[in-house]
Amino acid sequence: MSSNAQPSSPHVMNTYGRLPIALSHGQGCRVWDTNGKAYLDGLGGIAVNTLGHNHPELVPALQDQITKIIHSSNYYHVPGQETLAAKLTELSGLTNAFFCCTGLEANEAALKLARKFGHDRGIERPEIVVYEAAFHGRSIATLSATGNPKVQAGFGPLVEGFIRVPLNDIEALKKATEGNPNVVAVFFETIQGEGGINPMRWDYLRQVRQLCDERDWLMMIDEVQCGMGRTGKWFAHQWAGIKPDVMPLAKGLGSGVPIGAVVAGPKAANIFGPGNHGTTFGGNPLAMRAGIETIRIMEEHKLLENADKVGSHLKESLQRELGSLPGVKEVRGQGLMLGIELDRPCGAILQRACDAGLLLSVTADSVIRLVPPLVLSQAEADEIVAILVPIVKSFLAESKA
Ligand SMILES: Cc1ncc(COP(=O)(O)O)c(C=O)c1O
Repeated sequence: MSSNAQPSSPHVMNTYGRLPIALSHGQGCRVWDTNGKAYLDGLGGIAVNTLGHNHPELVPALQDQITKIIHSSNYYHVPGQETLAAKLTELSGLTNAFFCCTGLEANEAALKLARKFGHDRGIERPEIVVYEAAFHGRSIATLSATGNPKVQAGFGPLVEGFIRVPLNDIEALKKATEGNPNVVAVFFETIQGEGGINPMRWDYLRQVRQLCDERDWLMMIDEVQCGMGRTGKWFAHQWAGIKPDVMPLAKGLGSGVPIGAVVAGPKAANIFGPGNHGTTFGGNPLAMRAGIETIRIMEEHKLLENADKVGSHLKESLQRELGSLPGVKEVRGQGLMLGIELDRPCGAILQRACDAGLLLSVTADSVIRLVPPLVLSQAEADEIVAILVPIVKSFLAESKA
């Protein structure tokens, strides 16, 4: 995080560079810190708080669930899993879901599916294609799949069996896998989040789908950050008119309640059998209720349309105000997943924005990232622009490329 980050407490491990504030409560897209200062939430808990804060329909539903049962066990049927799996398969066109608690766990499940897919076909050392600048999590397997040396440093030996390729280059993918009978899957984010808001082109996604079909590989799309309506479709890959075989989800699915899922189509849905995979907390009744209610409220309040409309407005405004400034390389992204890439590291913008009452993040060192709640209004989008534009301008004027 920024150079202004404060050290953690004496008892909490020092794993995060944190800004020196603590949030106490929120309402919609506003949050307040423990000193009473208000902020506009352009971060949404890093693409998690889909419905914003204190949503008038989500909160009573969760309260109701807590009084009934929070956790049972996967020793028993959990009716909410049936309901949420049915909904996710309806929205994705896939067939089955497995529930866990986080993004990395969903990705671990995907990686295990790919390996077993290979082993079931007699491939003893399965290999998975992954991408430069990708981020898939911080477990040993998912950090090995991640394309960021900073995330991997100090944690070797990495898990083997990954082939890394650049984004949006079908020839590079073909070349990297040429004559290799051990390839079992291609694994990527439709729009890289932590990597700096880097979208896969739609024509490239279609080419990869075709290659996966021709070569009998699994197409595994990590929609942990870009999924759940953020880009204006339920899942970002749907803009390209394709369907993956495996799709990890998390973040926005529970609107703040920890939840993850891996959703699979016919090619991958029956790879796991009893005993192959599991988790204590995954799919518990509270998390399932959060997922079910989040999707119901998103549908009722047309939040996909809102993400598309308000996101386009926000992007256009940022492009108009910042796009031609020297020092601004690009304003990009889709729906309410936007990045402003500068020509220099810009972590210092975090503190400046925070001081000015706006929460956001900086990723890949030089990309200002906005992933606000999907309930963001056009007026709130305008407010983000009004706060952020002068900050970017003064930062560029005072710093060097
Ligand atoms: C695309 C993507 N995959 C996986 C993860 C890991 O999710 P989690 O932090 O819930 O483990 C993230 C987190 O930022 C992500 O953006």
